[in-house]
Amino acid sequence: RRPWTVPMLAEAKHKGRKLTMLTAYDASFGRAMDRAGLDLILIGDSLGMVMQGHDSTLPVTVDQIEYHTACVAKAAFNSLIVADLPFQADADPDRALQASTRFLQAGAKMIKLEGAGFKCDIIRYLSEREIPICSHLGLTPQSVLRFGGYKVQGRDEAAAAALMQQAKDVEQAGADMLVLECVPSALAAEITRTLKIPTIGIGAGPDCDGQVLVLHDMLGMDSGHRRPRFVKDFLAVGGSIEGAIAAYIEAVQSGDFPAPEHGYA
Ligand code: KIV
Ligand code: NA
Repeated sequence: RRPWTVPMLAEAKHKGRKLTMLTAYDASFGRAMDRAGLDLILIGDSLGMVMQGHDSTLPVTVDQIEYHTACVAKAAFNSLIVADLPFQADADPDRALQASTRFLQAGAKMIKLEGAGFKCDIIRYLSEREIPICSHLGLTPQSVLRFGGYKVQGRDEAAAAALMQQAKDVEQAGADMLVLECVPSALAAEITRTLKIPTIGIGAGPDCDGQVLVLHDMLGMDSGHRRPRFVKDFLAVGGSIEGAIAAYIEAVQSGDFPAPEHGYA
């Protein structure tokens, strides 16, 4: 196997080869995922919830994402490492550039940030400075205060049209990939058909170009919160941590996961 590069992501979409992604926060899981042949590893700001025990991602800092990115990058060589810009680290171009540069220097190959609107200016600013970008739309957890909770997005016709427009806007601004979280399956399928860049779904149905789950969720761990319907316990399928990762990769690549019951109508 050769290491994943950013141009290979669009190639995979073109060939209809599903992309596999999970979150990791340390070297041991990074190593297991890399050895299993996982395509992408995300150092998500979900670490605020699963590592730190907060009830949102808002307290996560740039220092913390940089630290966990460096930990994963010690042990993952073929999987493409993506690091999240935490809350407000993308609020202005300069802060976003400083934080992104630190993450790339810690071993990330791509930077993820939530939202469209003025964030398109940030995406353009970073991508013009040779920083590969993964956008994140739909249920953007950093919007939890404005959303009033973790709710499926794009459900009525106007919201669906707005989300489609955001997706076109982030692609136009230079995003190389797009995570769609908690979006009705039919809308995610339509966005996936419309965009040239690959889409990665989480609670977005089976027709995205790839899938992502939070590590602790796919291991069937109790998060202390209600388990969302898109989560599947792969430890129960695979029997070990290595087996769970392998079972996840196999299920995403074969199209067995997500099943219809993991999505939203
Ligand atoms: O932080 C995270 O884990 C994420 C994924 C859920 C996409 O952003
Ligand atoms: Na995140």
